[in-house]
Amino acid sequence: MRLQATETVNKVGEEVLLYGWVNARRNMSKIVFFDLRDRSGVVQVVCVPSELDEVSNEDVKKTRLEYCVEIKGVVQERGAKQKNPDMATGNVEILAKSFKVLTESEAMPFDVSTDTKVINEEMRLKYRYLDLRSERLKKNIEVRHKINLFLRNYLADQGFLEIETPNLTKGTPEGAREFIVPSRLHKHEFYVLPQSPQQFKQLLMVAGMEKYFQVARCFRDEDQRGDRQPEFTQLDVEMSFISQEDIIQLIEKAMIAMVEKLFPHLQIQEKPFPRLTYQEAMEKYGNDKPDLRKDKNDANTLAFGWVVDFPMFEKDKDGNLGAMHHPFTRPNNEDLGLLDKNPVKARAAAYDIVLNGFEIGGGSLRIFERELQKKVFELLGLSETEIQSRFGHILEAFTFGPPPHGGIALGLDRIIAILQGEENIREVMAFPKTGDARDLMMNAPSPLPDQALKDVHIKLGE
Ligand code: AMO
Repeated sequence: MRLQATETVNKVGEEVLLYGWVNARRNMSKIVFFDLRDRSGVVQVVCVPSELDEVSNEDVKKTRLEYCVEIKGVVQERGAKQKNPDMATGNVEILAKSFKVLTESEAMPFDVSTDTKVINEEMRLKYRYLDLRSERLKKNIEVRHKINLFLRNYLADQGFLEIETPNLTKGTPEGAREFIVPSRLHKHEFYVLPQSPQQFKQLLMVAGMEKYFQVARCFRDEDQRGDRQPEFTQLDVEMSFISQEDIIQLIEKAMIAMVEKLFPHLQIQEKPFPRLTYQEAMEKYGNDKPDLRKDKNDANTLAFGWVVDFPMFEKDKDGNLGAMHHPFTRPNNEDLGLLDKNPVKARAAAYDIVLNGFEIGGGSLRIFERELQKKVFELLGLSETEIQSRFGHILEAFTFGPPPHGGIALGLDRIIAILQGEENIREVMAFPKTGDARDLMMNAPSPLPDQALKDVHIKLGE
């Protein structure tokens, strides 16, 4: 039966079958040592010519780095001097009895047997499938899986349903530019990729789903930074019949449980998480995502915090009102009166969760009254016609007994990056895009043949 490299440690004396890639090769006169790497890690393989048949010996000779190989052999304990305490399998080695090359590899564009951080990033992204062979990236992808799984199970245990919502949809204004998809069947019409499942999750509350979550892919055509990608993943949550406090408690407990289970070596600086109003954060730290760590260089401390009482609106450079969170956010009850008199002063039931200087999530209680929602759209400068064409469906939904509801979305990529000590969210995504939103491996975006454009009724300009 096939074993993984790291499973060999307790199998001294046993015959094993291993598959993997050649991570290193060392010749010692006639004996050849390989480090065999598979997903679990690395184990040393010793190839002594007298132990192998002729075909195996030929394969050993021709094998170079990153060849994919099959090895049958016996696990043996290394001699005292050969033991390597820095290696998980450093007490054992495999004495090969058969060695077979499954596939060969060209010379690698870069070395994946050490940390690839120092390699030119464009090169790493072009050959992302090779970069993912390196230990650090593989670990990041594994941890990502564990975090997703933990949070999914955590929410499912609390009675949440994971519900998928469409990616071909209509725009939801949440501050970013949207990616558009032309329709073939409906000439001169377009879908929009969602910036988040915001409207769908609210409509799921109208549908009576009560507790929803989704590991949701979101799309935003905005300028890139280390903590932003055009495609990213949210842990998106919505609940009915709840208060702001319920949402804060739910997420706070989930974060604490996740850190305790998956990152026991990290310290949470303060529990319960400290809370600041938006105003306090701006006055004290000059921004709304403060790094609350006592020592900003302490990589083992997690300083979670909540920023609450965001303003409902902000003014753009032309003096027009924009939604600070998004237009479905509810004003604080005591500030409702300000909407008519002085809307810029109105605070919202909106909250962000921050971690070590990053905004890792944001949410709000929602408007569920048709008239109030209409008023907010009007304050945002939308005409009656625009309101109807863009949001008629949600205003109509609010005429059918909508429940009071609210929610939050966590930026999973950011959370994983911080927990893994990575500076850029690209390091924790399997196939990220460059700073200027290109996929260098697949070569996207790329031009399309004329016919493909014709099919979707598009004529290119200059
Ligand atoms: P918001 O726009 O604040 O809220 O997004 C929630 C969280 O998603 C993460 N995030 C990003 N991560 C990577 N790349 C990006 N381009 C990017 N943009 C945002 C951030 C952010 O805190 N629908 C609302 C949530 C709600 O009200 O429930 C929303 O999307 O960590």
